[in-house]
Amino acid sequence: MKDHKAISDRKADHIALALKDSHQSAQGAGFDRLRFEPNPLPQMALEDIDHSSQFLNQPVAAPLLIGAMTGGCENGELINRHLAEAAQACQIPMALGSQRAALEQGTLQNARHWAPSALLLGNLGATQLQQQGLDLAQRAVDSVQANALVIHLNPLQELVQPNGDRDWNLVLEAIQNTVAKLEVPVIVKEVGAGIGPSTAKKLMDAGVSWIEVAGRGGTSWASIELARNQSQREQEIAAPFIDWGMDTVELLPAVHGACPTLNLIGSGGVRHGLDIARCIRLGAQMTALAQPFLAPALESTEAVIEKISILQEQLRWAMFLTGSRSLTDLRGAALAQLP
Ligand SMILES: Cc1cc2nc3c(=O)[nH]c(=O)nc-3n(C[C@H](O)[C@H](O)[C@H](O)COP(=O)(O)O)c2cc1C
Repeated sequence: MKDHKAISDRKADHIALALKDSHQSAQGAGFDRLRFEPNPLPQMALEDIDHSSQFLNQPVAAPLLIGAMTGGCENGELINRHLAEAAQACQIPMALGSQRAALEQGTLQNARHWAPSALLLGNLGATQLQQQGLDLAQRAVDSVQANALVIHLNPLQELVQPNGDRDWNLVLEAIQNTVAKLEVPVIVKEVGAGIGPSTAKKLMDAGVSWIEVAGRGGTSWASIELARNQSQREQEIAAPFIDWGMDTVELLPAVHGACPTLNLIGSGGVRHGLDIARCIRLGAQMTALAQPFLAPALESTEAVIEKISILQEQLRWAMFLTGSRSLTDLRGAALAQLP
């Protein structure tokens, strides 16, 4: 029981800290260095633009998914309800936060009830998978009839977290086994330090076909966990790693170049629809935003719907201003990288 209370307290801390600007990377994810060549002759009407797409063989209104954010605490249920109802209303997929606590406590997971036909992605930590195996993965999927299972890799977060998992042996093997045996696709993500080409190749060899890059530049989990860590010694050890990782804008083209057949979700510091357009141009099929949905999710379903609508309109503007009628056109738009 004490463990469950500790997990629930930790999740509540995570939400409160993630809302603060001080735990967002100060330098950003590098998106501002990327400039589309303006096309002041779009030769189309704004309403001609179509940013709809396909994800996991289903139509989605835009190449955008609500990024994984943990439930498992008092506010978690409310946050998940607002996100799931908005996902359902907007035809946008939703990634659930870690299902570990709910599965261990046997708590009801209502996301499918709130989003009966939306694409819902389950979520587990890689070390839980390594410790508890396929059975846990299957239960995570079954409990919400998930369309895919997301496995998160967060070794830095675990190091900074008091009592975090330190044994990362056989994690790749656990992922490989899950990919081979689970009926739904497996997506592997980081949480804000990024997945680079070397790891992406290993994951691809293990059968993974989707990677969410989750690069540096948005929410900093080292910073959040450090704020919760009272040990002066551990604070001193962790300090140089506060900015660990690679920027999302560096990782996307690097992974796309090294593994052209791998499907990529651009994430980590994506903050508006112009960033979504930049990710698509850099080789992503989809994008994910987590922290920007947190404040609206605490407010209401309507606030989340409004956020999604603004993101879509910003993407539409970016497409209009580059003369891109479709996402395929956007992938060919001229882009310059500032020094
Ligand atoms: C409050 C909060 C809780 C999160 N919980 C999870 C989680 O349970 N599982 C996971 O894979 N990622 C989790 N993340 C990480 C995000 O999915 C994302 O990878 C990371 O925050 C970087 O994206 P951002 O800059 O858009 O926030 C969480 C993020 C936030 C803000």
